[in-house]
Amino acid sequence: MRKILVTNALPYANGPIHMGHLLGYIQADIWVRAMRAMGHDVTYVCADDAHGTAIMLRAEANGISPEAQIANVQKEHERDFAGFGISFDHYDSTHSDTNKARSQEIYVKNREAGNIAIRPVSQLFDPEKKMFLSDRFIKGTCPKCKAEDQYGDSCEVCGTTYNATELLNPRSTLSGATPVEKSSDHYFFKLPNFAEYLQKWTRDQGRLPVSIANKLDEWFEAGLADWDISRDAPYFGFEIPDAPNKYFYVWVDAPIGYMASFENYIKTKRPDLNFDDYWKKDSQNEVYHFIGKDIVYFHALFWPAMLEGANYRTPTGLFVNGFLTVNGQKMSKSRGTFIKAETYLEHLNPEYLRYYFASKLSDKVEDSDLNLDDFIQKVNSDLVGKVVNIASRCAKFINKDFDNTLSAQCTESELVQSFIDAGDSIAKAYEDREFSAAIREIMALADRANQYIDEKKPWALAKQEGQAQQVHEVCSVGINLFRQLAVYLAPVLPSLATEVQAFLQLDSFDFASRKTILVNHAIAQFQPLMQRVDAKAVAAMVDASKDSLAAPAAPVKAEKKKEKVAQTKAEPKIGEADIIGIEDFMKIDIRVAKVLDAATVEGSDKLLQLTLDAGEAEPRNVFSGIRSSYAPEDLKGKLVVLVANLAPRKMRFGVSNGMVMAAGNGEGVFIVSPDSGAKPGDKVS
Ligand code: MSP
Ligand code: ZN
Repeated sequence: MRKILVTNALPYANGPIHMGHLLGYIQADIWVRAMRAMGHDVTYVCADDAHGTAIMLRAEANGISPEAQIANVQKEHERDFAGFGISFDHYDSTHSDTNKARSQEIYVKNREAGNIAIRPVSQLFDPEKKMFLSDRFIKGTCPKCKAEDQYGDSCEVCGTTYNATELLNPRSTLSGATPVEKSSDHYFFKLPNFAEYLQKWTRDQGRLPVSIANKLDEWFEAGLADWDISRDAPYFGFEIPDAPNKYFYVWVDAPIGYMASFENYIKTKRPDLNFDDYWKKDSQNEVYHFIGKDIVYFHALFWPAMLEGANYRTPTGLFVNGFLTVNGQKMSKSRGTFIKAETYLEHLNPEYLRYYFASKLSDKVEDSDLNLDDFIQKVNSDLVGKVVNIASRCAKFINKDFDNTLSAQCTESELVQSFIDAGDSIAKAYEDREFSAAIREIMALADRANQYIDEKKPWALAKQEGQAQQVHEVCSVGINLFRQLAVYLAPVLPSLATEVQAFLQLDSFDFASRKTILVNHAIAQFQPLMQRVDAKAVAAMVDASKDSLAAPAAPVKAEKKKEKVAQTKAEPKIGEADIIGIEDFMKIDIRVAKVLDAATVEGSDKLLQLTLDAGEAEPRNVFSGIRSSYAPEDLKGKLVVLVANLAPRKMRFGVSNGMVMAAGNGEGVFIVSPDSGAKPGDKVS
């Protein structure tokens, strides 16, 4: 029996889980479940990635301690993962004593091995916030083309990369203050010490997807640089031993969190497992990390180097997923395609998404698209139309006419056997992470099963005299075929599989269990297994994901930039969608407006049509979803707060030019209005 430790990338503790994240978690979970079903001993752990500036600032913005911030988010993450059936054995946080000890130990071992250097670094410092600023918290004028409002690492207009200190008129996006240059000692991990080792390591059989290994070659050719692993206080993280006020950069203790989560799992739940069996240098057990393509650099270079430098084993392999787009584009809050796990679960069955992702995934590092129309169509035609249909067509006769018991002999043992035999290549496809191939094979079997039932027509036989035994036999074959399909789909559809297992009254649903054909076998009463995807629910989910305040989606730039940064300085990406600088906020034109007229809208029970004086030459027309709480006559003459530079939105009833701000608490809607004295057109800031 193979002993395998599997991890998923540790999500940052500063934002919610969304569809993009789920691609990698669902991929790993399907693999884990498939490997378990094949009889391997798989341990599957994860944790929240709790450290770093972004989380510190997010906590500050929320007015809570970082500890409270990460505890809240962890609860939400665990809830969302459970909602999608992700079968972690243990979920931890990188902010744990275990991880602190392990991180410090790995650092000290590397220091003793001569892999750490210390030297001063001059950086921009925010004199008001009293902290060093990473590039993304600095904006200024491009030194080359003089474009304004450019970030501290590169110019979006002319594409030049530079050091933040070269920006003209730099300012801190945190406080607006002019940063000053200041020097402090930084600790470096001497990555070049591992150049030869890594070059070989990344080419080892099965270690990495070949496309990634090729990409890494470019980096090797460009030459590896020392990696800056320290950050000055204030920083939310672990202190570096013997280095007062210096903290480990979040990407040091994040991957060590894989080890620490496993260690805490042993401590709290599985004292029979042994840490060294998995992590000591010559361990024969396997360790795999499932990660997204944007974090390959950390996992394929720094991580194995740190482990090697501290005399631990390195991962057996990295499994890398591409990025997810929704309806062909980057997820966007304004289009309603930045869909949070939580929002999805409020509207749709998680197994639909698991199936859809499975039908798209292979072992290649390719981007995947969640096309919502295709999603509806595929789930309805495959799962509801083909798979579940087999059971509902056959079960009712067994339940009604044959005392819930399958026939005493299988009249189509060749057909059933061919389904059993197909399991070997399906299992292999799962193991190779060729999920789309596995699904194609399973659906081809489903087609054959339906064909068989269509040919035999048990519903017609049932109406004929003396055909009862035939009906019994045909439906029993149908149930046997369905059972094979359910076993094969179990890694993808665990809840459905649990229900089918209960319906078929089987002790095991492992791959090996499929080999006995069910004869004279008692089953339970059939219950409907899966509803069709309701297009209205999908539309409602998109609607609930729409944030009309959100700026239109940024161009794909963010991702490219990340890779470039990774090459030079290996900065982490921060939940870009979450924190905004003061400039971003200043882009929103918020003004006082006076309601000149308000009217109901024919054909809508949600909207009121408002005519507003916003201090402009012409009155504005705005539709506002406040009808449940306000009558038109309540509003006339009232002062409201208007977001004035929102892109006009075309609605069925006309064009809405802006948005009236209101608070909502699920029970009512409450218009925000300025105190008396404010005048139409006044800026709100
Ligand atoms: N905290 C780091 C990982 C540390 S691992 C030691 C991180 N966190 S993350 O929350 O930004 O991302 C978590 C995982 O989700 C990563 O594997 C990342 O690649 C993946 N994805 C985030 N957005 C994604 C898409 N839009 N599409 C596919 N995967 C995406 O990175
Ligand atoms: Zn420029």
